[in-house]
Amino acid sequence: MPRERLSVVVTRRLPEVVETRLSELFDVRLREDDTPMTRDELIAATREADVLVPTLSDTLDASLLGQVGDRLKLIANYGAGVDHIDVATARQRGILVSNTPGVLTDDTADMTMALILAVTRRLPEGMAVMQRGEWAGWSPTAFLGGRLGGRRLGILGMGRIGQAVARRARAFGMQIHYHNRHRLRPEIEEELEATYWESLDQMVARMDVISVNCPSTPSTFHLMNARRLKLMKPTAVIVNTSRGEVIDENALTRMIRAGEIAGAGLDVYEHGTEVNPRLRQLPNVVLLPHMGSATVEGRIEMGEKVIINIKTFEDGHRPPDQVVP
Ligand code: DGY
Repeated sequence: MPRERLSVVVTRRLPEVVETRLSELFDVRLREDDTPMTRDELIAATREADVLVPTLSDTLDASLLGQVGDRLKLIANYGAGVDHIDVATARQRGILVSNTPGVLTDDTADMTMALILAVTRRLPEGMAVMQRGEWAGWSPTAFLGGRLGGRRLGILGMGRIGQAVARRARAFGMQIHYHNRHRLRPEIEEELEATYWESLDQMVARMDVISVNCPSTPSTFHLMNARRLKLMKPTAVIVNTSRGEVIDENALTRMIRAGEIAGAGLDVYEHGTEVNPRLRQLPNVVLLPHMGSATVEGRIEMGEKVIINIKTFEDGHRPPDQVVP
């Protein structure tokens, strides 16, 4: 007798090829419009699904996971970060969690470099002048930024993405420094020509550019708090393509306004879409709408990873990208 197909509920619109492939393989309920599900919709979805495919816009906390149906056995997250999922509670309830690491590394690292360049070379200011039709011609003293070559880049979080940033930044002639929970193996440090700082405070105080590339966990919350931001050189800039909660956004805003930090490039925010309005008014701040992994290729590959995780689970094995609390 043919095996009954797994019931899969997808909480957001995904790239069409991914949705088509999912529909060929499983009994799938797709989202009709590109809005996040409400909490009630999410709970209802978990009651009719063997597998839920959420994204970072769905908060699957302990209280929600306490209300899911017995049927739910796998949360196959479409995305690498799982800070929106209480993985420990899911485990207690016998629900596996998987994610999509690796396939968005290069895209996010590219975007990190884009932000570093945009802030240090004052791209938004130049663009604004062109868009307003106010350019009066080349000038020896206009729009002077900083040269990346020779500058010290301090990477906070040296996982896959941090290392990919390091490789790119080296090609721009930057000096690579990093702080991480664990020191990298000597051969990787050597390949990246990266200097390890056990003390984050000491690293922060000496860098020209800080790049936040660590995940959001209770121990990284406000790692860049007001005290640490104050350690930065007034000429230094900070970029974040990871998660907003790592930086105290209000403190950062205050310090940039006061000229105590030279600028920032942010793709993520402490309170989701509620971006501090004062940040939006600063010319030396580049703000993007969480588009670090937004390439056609990356988003399709994320879908392929989700499918492999579900298929492997369906075949009775642990998903290759299982997240363990
Ligand atoms: C992720 O997958 O966690 C990324 O932040 C999405 O861009």
